[in-house]
Amino acid sequence: MSVIKDGIAPHGGTLINRLASSAQKQEFESKAENLPRVALDQRAASDLVMIAIGGFSPISGFMGQADYEKVVTDMRLASGLPWSVPVTLSVTEAVAEPLQIGQLVRLDDETGRFIGVLELSEKYTYDKKKEAINVYRTDEDKHPGVKVVYDQGPINLAGDVWLLERDPHPLFPSYQIDPAQSRAQFRDRGWRTIVGFQTRNPIHRAHEYIQKCALETVDGLFLHPLVGATKSDDIPADVRMRCYEIMMEHYFPQDRVILAINPSAMRYAGPREAIFHALIRKNYGCTHFIVGRDHAGVGDYYGTYDAQAIFDEFEPAELGIVPMKFEHAFYCTRTSTMATTKTSPATPEERIHLSGTKVRSLLRDGKQPPPEFSRPEVAAELVKAMQTS
Ligand code: ADX
Repeated sequence: MSVIKDGIAPHGGTLINRLASSAQKQEFESKAENLPRVALDQRAASDLVMIAIGGFSPISGFMGQADYEKVVTDMRLASGLPWSVPVTLSVTEAVAEPLQIGQLVRLDDETGRFIGVLELSEKYTYDKKKEAINVYRTDEDKHPGVKVVYDQGPINLAGDVWLLERDPHPLFPSYQIDPAQSRAQFRDRGWRTIVGFQTRNPIHRAHEYIQKCALETVDGLFLHPLVGATKSDDIPADVRMRCYEIMMEHYFPQDRVILAINPSAMRYAGPREAIFHALIRKNYGCTHFIVGRDHAGVGDYYGTYDAQAIFDEFEPAELGIVPMKFEHAFYCTRTSTMATTKTSPATPEERIHLSGTKVRSLLRDGKQPPPEFSRPEVAAELVKAMQTS
């Protein structure tokens, strides 16, 4: 890993910027009425944003067949650079058929708003089952990531993209810190080593424990909750962000922690997604990345530490970000602290760890999760959110 004066290099060496200049925007808008249209779902729209702001560097558009096939089978782009999850724009045959290679395609969001442009370079079919088995390690449609693949169209459209405008996030504008900005903030704070934290759940004490263990050894913590599409039974992003605001106010040293949103969508691809999440944080300027138990997992599809083991399939230098691996953390009643089996001699009866399912059922009954699981102010916020939802 090279920590250079201006921070760690983005994946592939260059931070991608696919935001249309004002002249390009004018040109695209003047042509818009006559361009063929493709409507993006929430995930594709957030992928467009991630590409444009450099979060997916070195990717500059929706993947062509050579990149796609190699990512699915070998976890690499056609160039050989590690990349673990396809970034594709899948459409129906009816949508794909009239589109001409070389043509500009207008990209609209789900509401029909013109948000970007694709320069169409390829149309190709792909094998959904192969993608499911390789990327998600299962072909069951019960898996929420696999279901998305099965439900989407059979043709991938590929090509470079432009985002028309970087709009402030409607809910979290002050936490919208894009990769160029997070890199500048790390530099301004004099941080040379920064650990990134991915999450899609309300913060609990095991999260806080591993975040703070990591922070003991680096200059700064980049708290980066994902606010793009999640499955319907995950806690909504606005509730999760309020929990983080509470934590920032009461429990974190403000000068050592930055809270920012990650606009991308969850795939629930477990190990493959852990690599993807790490590369995204590298692009934001992080030098380290936390991988705990069953990272980005769902159901029983992945082993507890599969998402850690997958990092060993790459040379550290080719990933260029250091995984910080943590065991399953719990509250230990013997030592009255958070711990793991690495640090505590607790018997199983002396370990308090609640599953997400158990916490959701407590909340549904209007009961606060206990202080061993959640900081009381966060627990109160969660109960309030459940009652008003
Ligand atoms: S994730 O889908 O974004 O990975 P979650 O928000 O639950 O889900 O987890 C965020 C990070 O915290 C992941 O790296 C995960 O492995 C880690 N993590 C969650 N709970 C624990 C725990 N009890 N012990 C250790 N690591 C944990």
